[in-house]
Amino acid sequence: ANSNNQGYASFLQCLSLRIPPSTNISQILHTPDTTSYSSLYLSSIRNLRFVTPETRKPLLIITPIDESHVQASVVCCKEHSFQIRVRSGGHDYEGLSYRIENESPFVIIDLVNLRSVAVDPKQGTAWVQAGATLGELYFRIAEESESYGFPAGVCPTVGVGGHISSGGFGTMLRKYGLAIDNVLDARLVDVNGRVVDKESMGEDLFWAIRGGGGASFGIIVSWKLKLVLVPPTVTAFTIRRASSEGAVELVDKWQQIAPGLQEDLFIRAVVQAQGGNSEKREVEALFNSLFLGRCGELLQLMTQTFPELNLKSSDCKEMNWIRSVLYFAHGTDEKAVETLLDRGSKPEKSFKAKSDFVNEPIPRLLWERIWEWFLEDGAGMMIMDPYGGKISSISDSATPFPHRQGILYNIQYYCKWWESEATSSEKYMGWIRKLYGEMSPYVSQNPRAAYLGYRDLDLGKNDEEGSKTRYSKAVVWGRMYFKDNFERLAIVKGTVDPSDFFRNEQSIPPLESRS
Ligand code: FDA
Repeated sequence: ANSNNQGYASFLQCLSLRIPPSTNISQILHTPDTTSYSSLYLSSIRNLRFVTPETRKPLLIITPIDESHVQASVVCCKEHSFQIRVRSGGHDYEGLSYRIENESPFVIIDLVNLRSVAVDPKQGTAWVQAGATLGELYFRIAEESESYGFPAGVCPTVGVGGHISSGGFGTMLRKYGLAIDNVLDARLVDVNGRVVDKESMGEDLFWAIRGGGGASFGIIVSWKLKLVLVPPTVTAFTIRRASSEGAVELVDKWQQIAPGLQEDLFIRAVVQAQGGNSEKREVEALFNSLFLGRCGELLQLMTQTFPELNLKSSDCKEMNWIRSVLYFAHGTDEKAVETLLDRGSKPEKSFKAKSDFVNEPIPRLLWERIWEWFLEDGAGMMIMDPYGGKISSISDSATPFPHRQGILYNIQYYCKWWESEATSSEKYMGWIRKLYGEMSPYVSQNPRAAYLGYRDLDLGKNDEEGSKTRYSKAVVWGRMYFKDNFERLAIVKGTVDPSDFFRNEQSIPPLESRS
């Protein structure tokens, strides 16, 4: 304990030497004995699964208000062998931005105060700091110009730092691709505490942080984004169909046509059980859509391509783009647009998710079985986003995210629960793992693909012992997330962080270049 205390004191001294004298250090350092520590720690945790008495807490939380504070934190953590967990929005599905599974002392660098958004409507670009949320980004874009939007995720409290570095997709993915396909530049603090941008970090590192996860390579401080054009009026709809209304047939048809529709049209399909544990449980299909155009045109398109859904003009809601963001986030566009600025303040539920990609339509018989599984034990949902269009037109190696060409749609299996007992966790986790197992013959193979943004530690983790992660072990889950891009990611890692300082349970291991 004594040497720990000494290390800790020396760490604080290191920081105070490196942080500019104009900074009030107590504003940015939160030790367990300060009143801010607990509320700050919980503030952006999304998953109650990781709020347990056993979860190890950080030695301290640092909330930088300037790039130089991030630089000082990296240098001092490295000098003192403290691991870093960097947190932007805290939405990591496995909590890797605020927890660690081994015994190493660690520090959370929470970027909540680095969240400015500077929109340049003339250039159609924006610099956004990593700690901003998607809601803040969308709100600030719309504040500056009605002509622009940005193609990223649906949930407004997700952080830009983790989201963009892991890919980032939402309702405009068919028209404009992923968030990473629209990144122009970035500023990153590297393992030596230097700030680098696109030019000085080099092509390989700039490639790696757009989809390979930021946490393996450094701390992203800000992104420069290319904004995309949105029309003044867009149209959204949500249609629910019960089994008695042909839901199974509709999902079967959806998977055949949704990836081939024109790219202004995105129709998400969700399969979920309604009615909880009651005998009246019913399994429904929900179709949630954004069309970058007016209702009249959408009705025509739907009549030609998906008449079975029987879309009527009374189902369509016309609105501007920023209201469509609200609509997808909250199921209504009638809330104040300012609600997009809410960041949340504590975790409310536990959840577990897993992902798949589909190359061939799933046989109709299987859909019927899926309905039966949900009916027997409807613990969660399957959320399916169609690909095709822009996302699939980019080469699989252009960014680390490789699930593009030939992919029909992405599946996210998701279940949530409010009960805190361990038996509940076992029940829901068991349900989702079983469903994932049953689906294996029908989804992408060799490797079975997964999306880093829906992180899943069931796929594998780095060794807990020793200080270096191992390529030979990581390649199993690495190829699921990145396919052939995994090797290039590991080589980039070996070049920019050979001592593997930036590591976690699923970080990219360093590999020496073979050339
Ligand atoms: P968090 O802060 O937890 O970070 C995630 C990972 O990135 C961690 O490993 C962390 O250390 C690292 N990291 C964070 N900031 C960094 C930085 N500045 N530099 C380097 N590394 C950094 N995805 C999607 O594509 N589309 C969607 O619509 C949604 N919707 C959605 C809803 C909800 C409710 C959740 C919980 C999640 C999603 N996601 C999603 C997934 C989401 O994109 C993914 O979890 C992101 O990594 C979250 O980014 P945060 O910054 O919030 O997470």
